[in-house]
Amino acid sequence: MSGSNLLFVFTGSIAGYKACETVSRLVQRGHRIRCVATAAALKFIGPATLEGLTGSPVLSDLFEPGRALDHITLTRWADAVVVCPATANTLNRLAAGLADDLPGALFLAHDRTKPWLIVPAMNPAMWSHPATVAAVGKLRSWGLRIMPVSEGRTACGETGEGRLAEPEAIVAAVEAALTKPTHQRRVLVTAGGTTEPVDGVRVLTNTSTGNTGAAIADRLAFAGHDVVLLRAHNAARAASPCREETFVTYAELEAALDRLLGTDQFDTVIHAAAVSDYGVDSMIVAGGVVPAGSQGKIESGSGPLLRLRPNPKLVDGLRRLTGRPLTVVAFKLTHGADRVLSDAAVRRLLAHSGADYVVHNDLAARHPDGTFPADIIRADGTRAAHCPDRPALANALAHLLENADAMAHRPIPAARN
Ligand SMILES: Cc1cc2nc3c(=O)[nH]c(=O)nc-3n(C[C@H](O)[C@H](O)[C@H](O)COP(=O)(O)O)c2cc1C
Repeated sequence: MSGSNLLFVFTGSIAGYKACETVSRLVQRGHRIRCVATAAALKFIGPATLEGLTGSPVLSDLFEPGRALDHITLTRWADAVVVCPATANTLNRLAAGLADDLPGALFLAHDRTKPWLIVPAMNPAMWSHPATVAAVGKLRSWGLRIMPVSEGRTACGETGEGRLAEPEAIVAAVEAALTKPTHQRRVLVTAGGTTEPVDGVRVLTNTSTGNTGAAIADRLAFAGHDVVLLRAHNAARAASPCREETFVTYAELEAALDRLLGTDQFDTVIHAAAVSDYGVDSMIVAGGVVPAGSQGKIESGSGPLLRLRPNPKLVDGLRRLTGRPLTVVAFKLTHGADRVLSDAAVRRLLAHSGADYVVHNDLAARHPDGTFPADIIRADGTRAAHCPDRPALANALAHLLENADAMAHRPIPAARN
């Protein structure tokens, strides 16, 4: 990893001097660095300093003659991009996808398999502003790594969170971002809700968006794992370059699981799909019994009665579909359950599925933006992590899987009738 190509983007913060120290340390560790600086950044740090530190001229103007394609060539050249210090202005501009300056154009043009590390620095009020909080959440959900800010007295005289991380920690984070996982996992993530046909135009479905599964797939794919996202046809798409397959019905999801686990060498399944507990068997209408999914439309007012059939729990059979050890992550959604009820629900799921982890969340704890806090529960019922939101859940799962080499896989549960 020493000797990597790093693109270092300076923006207009008083913490620029600490970023210079970071660049100096990275150069000493053998990395090649090109610097981009916004107009505001150049009011804090002179171009001569950056050129002196890196041995290359600083790039600042998107339209500089002879340099008009730098936003493309630099993204190809760089192994990683570091935005340090990252101002509130730049965080919000990147999250809005604006490309009228060099950092914005680089960001939209970049190869999203390569890491982007953002190291924020700002006054505590700017850091806690809802606009900045939303921008950071959005950038995280796209797979960017955002370094934590530190707490203390900032240059403006206020005390709180917003200080740039220390150069030593930034160097460590840059080098960690350049490291591929030592144990690359092959992960199948399911996401979104099944849709069960009633007649030719009507369906039974649920409100799952697939956002959680997509966020987990992205987080793992951006970290270098080999990921397939098996998602509902109308669910959120991946932002990472992971492979995607789609399903509509329970039967299609079941067949896809069968095929993928039977032929591909997955070592992990994260089963976040919202699978219908029942499918439509047939309808009793005035003229007799009509099988589910029949073409055409049953007349309104003909008083059809739906006959449902229970769908077996797909999560229970996952291990039997593959001939190799499989880590299984199952999901349990409750509604307004107290601790005793939710613990019991998780225990039941662990018992019948044989899952290694259960992600539990409760509908009543949902935030207005649609995300909700979740707990990751181990097979022994202890809590592995509490995650306040979706990016935190994706990070925690990635961390557990990356450190799971020693994890004992649970035995295959006996087939249930
Ligand atoms: C003395 C001074 C210090 C500043 N420090 C910061 C800072 O640490 N973080 C920040 O977000 N903005 C800071 N600003 C404001 C930014 O420089 C300003 O929002 C600028 O437009 C950012 O442009 P850029 O993101 O394109 O670099 C500071 C401004 C001044 C005058």
